[in-house]
Amino acid sequence: MKDKYILAFETSCDETSISIIKNGYKEIATVVLSQIDIHAKFGGVVPETASRAHIENITIVIEEVLEKAKMKIEEIDAIAVTYGPGLIGSLLIGLVAAKTLSYIYNKPLVPVHHIAGHIYANNLVKPLEFPLIALVVSGGHTELILMEDEYSFKYIGGTVDDAVGEAYDKVARVLGLSYPGGPVIDELATTGVDIYNLPLPMDDSTFDFSFSGLKSAVINLNHNEKQRGNEINSANLATSFQNRVVEILTKKTMRALKKYDVNNLVLAGGVAANRGLRERLTELCRENEIDLTIPDIKYCTDNAAMIGAAGYYAYKLGRRFDGVLKAKPTDKLN
Ligand code: KG4
Ligand code: ZN
Repeated sequence: MKDKYILAFETSCDETSISIIKNGYKEIATVVLSQIDIHAKFGGVVPETASRAHIENITIVIEEVLEKAKMKIEEIDAIAVTYGPGLIGSLLIGLVAAKTLSYIYNKPLVPVHHIAGHIYANNLVKPLEFPLIALVVSGGHTELILMEDEYSFKYIGGTVDDAVGEAYDKVARVLGLSYPGGPVIDELATTGVDIYNLPLPMDDSTFDFSFSGLKSAVINLNHNEKQRGNEINSANLATSFQNRVVEILTKKTMRALKKYDVNNLVLAGGVAANRGLRERLTELCRENEIDLTIPDIKYCTDNAAMIGAAGYYAYKLGRRFDGVLKAKPTDKLN
């Protein structure tokens, strides 16, 4: 079969990213322009600022990725774009750029759900094998997804309140650490001791998660210790927090694998970069003879390579925009 090249766009949050992927697994070129420096001083992403930065950057990133790949748009087979979920203003910039190129160059336009992209980041490591369970952990999502076949997604559980990455970012803010908090807490957690008595959140028989209670426990502990004139040990608190997060995520994931009789696990989303989570899952999967795939660190946080990987399979399935181009800030994975 002739090679298929997908030009992929990802602008759902604060990364302007475009990539060219061959046959769903081979990265030809990717450019990721992060806005972290712009948002860091506010301790989180400012939506209006993010959209403006996407507008300023998008044409530069298109030119750069084509130059890097030494390709022309004429050589592309289809254009894939994240249509949601994400920040509406940010999504729209990627959508409008992708739609314009698709119209001018007469290329099929393929909509990709952001979480499908995160899961397919694993296809850049090795071909997905089914059935599989995906543990999706990011700044906006914490979900367990069952895939029985290519590009088919069944939701089996997820957070009822905060996403796990969101909890990391909020805890970091309380501790006076920089944004994004995940990598900072992850780093600190390697130096501390688990001495703080934090709860294991939503430790029940469901496949759902809850992180707002754990986040509040950290905030209250910090507040109470300060009132007593005691200094909180940030490293110990980071370790205690991370241990609880890793324990509940891995506990429910391993149970889901057993219940659905699945031997393949893929990890996805920004929090998949977490060292504690990667190590513990690797250990548990080895013990239980589960085949675990984890994306390279650079494909864990938002990037267009993962959208190109997912976009290839969506393209093969015949998914196309039906003429009505809509950004969907919240949308079920399908
Ligand atoms: O997937 P992503 O780039 O954006 C969303 O789709 O949300 O994930 C970003 C999230 C942030 O909350 C960030 O703090 C978290 O991923 N993150 C981490 C680590 N690296 C990034 N959380 C824990 N440990 C890490 N090493
Ligand atoms: Zn993401």
